[in-house]
Amino acid sequence: MIFDVLTLFPAMFSGPMTESILKRAQQAGLMTLRLHNIRDWATDRHRTADDAPYGGGAGMVMKAVPTAAAIRAVLALEPEAPPAPVILLSPDGTPFTQALAHELALQPRLILLCGHYEGLDERVRETLVTQEMSIGDYVLTGGELAAMVLIDAVARLRPGVIDAESISEESHSDGLLEYPHYTRPALWEDHPVPPVLLSGHHGAVARWRRKERLRRTLARRPDLLPRAYATGQLSRDDLNFLAELGWVP
Ligand code: ADE
Repeated sequence: MIFDVLTLFPAMFSGPMTESILKRAQQAGLMTLRLHNIRDWATDRHRTADDAPYGGGAGMVMKAVPTAAAIRAVLALEPEAPPAPVILLSPDGTPFTQALAHELALQPRLILLCGHYEGLDERVRETLVTQEMSIGDYVLTGGELAAMVLIDAVARLRPGVIDAESISEESHSDGLLEYPHYTRPALWEDHPVPPVLLSGHHGAVARWRRKERLRRTLARRPDLLPRAYATGQLSRDDLNFLAELGWVP
């Protein structure tokens, strides 16, 4: 999978994109990250990529001409393929979720445009941006950190990047939070590991884990349960257990 990132600050990507799992994924050819500096498409002597807003007001606006030229040049990098989605990272976008990460992971290529300053000239948004995504209801200094969050969440879902089993029961995979994890020693200070995990009984372990996922979701994110119910993720046993805990659909 190819991630083409359009940014005014490509250096921000070293570190998060060059360590650990994403580093290995790139070395293994499972993902390619291409960073493009929008300033390279500015034609004036000072390579200006931003300007004051028409109508006045605070802050600067990313200019249409270099930004559009950058997007078009990057779209043209894969002339044989259908045009890749152009996703603007902005606090006004669709909230990014695990379900969206799964959808995006099906794409062969994503073009991510990192917004900066007060925003982007609206005409670029209207003509070249195909989707807008927000990573949460708060405002970052720019779209770079959001783009890295999106890349991380999407890339780990691609086959081979991480163990497929880790994905199937993790938080948000099927609308529930994850069960708690333990490793050696079996007794740490005065805290023992739940005995069922030492029993060697796979069925009992699986049932305990399922209940812990339900218990934890109800305690921490009860807002997730109606959706899990509506999408058929909850079995009869799940519903009976939730009813014991006081939750009914
Ligand atoms: N740029 C600034 N804030 C953002 C957010 N919350 N999500 C995505 N991009 C952003």
